[in-house]
Amino acid sequence: MGTILVTGGAGYIGSHVARQLGERSERIVTLDNLSTGFRAAVLYGDLVVGDTGDATTVARVLRDYGVDTVMHFAAHIVVPESVADPLKYYRNNTASTRTLLQCCVEAGVRHFVFSSTAAVYGIPAGGVASEDTPTAPINPYGRSKLMSEWMLADVAAATPLRYAALRYFNVAGADPGGRIGQSTPAATHLIKVACEHVVGKRDHVAIFGTDYDTPDGTGVRDYIHVEDLAAAHLNALDYLRGGGAPVTLNCGYGRGFSVREVLDCVAAVASRPLTIREAPRRAGDPPTLVAEARLIGRILDWVPHYRDLPGIVGTALAWEWTLTDRGTDDVARTEQAKLSSPVVA
Ligand code: UD1
Repeated sequence: MGTILVTGGAGYIGSHVARQLGERSERIVTLDNLSTGFRAAVLYGDLVVGDTGDATTVARVLRDYGVDTVMHFAAHIVVPESVADPLKYYRNNTASTRTLLQCCVEAGVRHFVFSSTAAVYGIPAGGVASEDTPTAPINPYGRSKLMSEWMLADVAAATPLRYAALRYFNVAGADPGGRIGQSTPAATHLIKVACEHVVGKRDHVAIFGTDYDTPDGTGVRDYIHVEDLAAAHLNALDYLRGGGAPVTLNCGYGRGFSVREVLDCVAAVASRPLTIREAPRRAGDPPTLVAEARLIGRILDWVPHYRDLPGIVGTALAWEWTLTDRGTDDVARTEQAKLSSPVVA
C-alpha cells in the first residue's frame, strides 16, 4: 500500500480524516499551507507546509513519500466570501486542483478522493438533492468545486486514475475523543457560531431569514457529524483500492433540521437559553437543502454512527469549551509554531 497524501490535513475535515487514517495505521503525509489550518491538528504523519498550487512541492511530496492515493481537502469554503472575491476561490479551489491533478497524473497516483459540496446543486426542486439532480450552483464556491469535479471526471476518462467525489452537506461536530475540532476564526457556520455564543465569544446568534417556505420559516439543512463524514472517506479509499469505478456520492443523513431546531438543540445541550436575533435572509441561501443519501450506504457500505443532533452539537460544544479553556486561541498558537518550527520537506 502506498502513502496517502492528505491536502488540507491541518484543517477541520481533513484533520479528522487524517486522524482516522492514522488510527488505522495507514501511511499518511499532510500538505497544508496553514492559511486556515493548524499544525496542532496534524496528529499522525509528517506535515509538509506548502500549497497544492505549487507543482514543485507537490511533485516532490508525491515522489519522496511514494504516494499512490490523494485525499484533497485544501480549499476555501465560505460562501459569502466566494461571492465577494470569486477569483480567490477559482485560484485555490479550481486552479490549484488542476495543478494537483497534473502532478498526480505525472506521478502515476492511482486513487483520488475529492472533497466536494452540496453547493453544486444550488436550489434543487423540493429542497432534496440526489446524485442525479442536475448541478446548478448559485455561488462561486459551488462553481469552483463543480469545475474540479468535471476535471476529475475528464482525467479519469483519459488516464488510469480513479476517484470518489464526496458531496458534503452541512458538516458539524468534532472528534468525540476531544483532540481536534473546528478552530476556524471568524466562523460562519451555524452550529459553530451558536457554540461560540454559548461559551461567551459572541453576544447573540442571528437567524438569517424567518420567512422561508419551510415548516417554521427558517432554513433547513442536513447536518452530518464530521466523524461519520471522515469514516466515509476511509470507506471510499477501500472502495477504490478494491477496484471500484469513479463515483460521486452525497454525504448527508437524508433528514433536515431548521435553524430554530438547531438553536433549540444547542440551548438544550448547553442547559441555558440563547440570545437570538431575527435577521434578514443571507444572500445565496437556499430555503432547504437535504441529501437523498441512500447511494453512499449501498456503494461504500457506509453506516453512520453519530446521526443524532444532540450528539453533533455536544461534540461541537465540547470542542468550543476546549478552545476557550486553553486561554488562547489556535491562531496564536499556530503563528507561534510557524515561527519556531522548521518546515518538513
Ligand atoms: C454552505 C454550503 C455548503 C458548504 C458550506 C461550506 C450552500 C447551500 N451550502 O452551507 O454546501 O459545504 O457552506 O462552508 O451553499 N444561519 C443562521 N445564522 C448563522 C449562520 C447560519 O441563521 O449565524 C443559517 C443559514 O442561513 C442556513 C443555515 O443556518 O439556513 C446553515 O448555514 P451555514 O452553517 O452557514 O451553512 P450553509 O450556508 O448551509
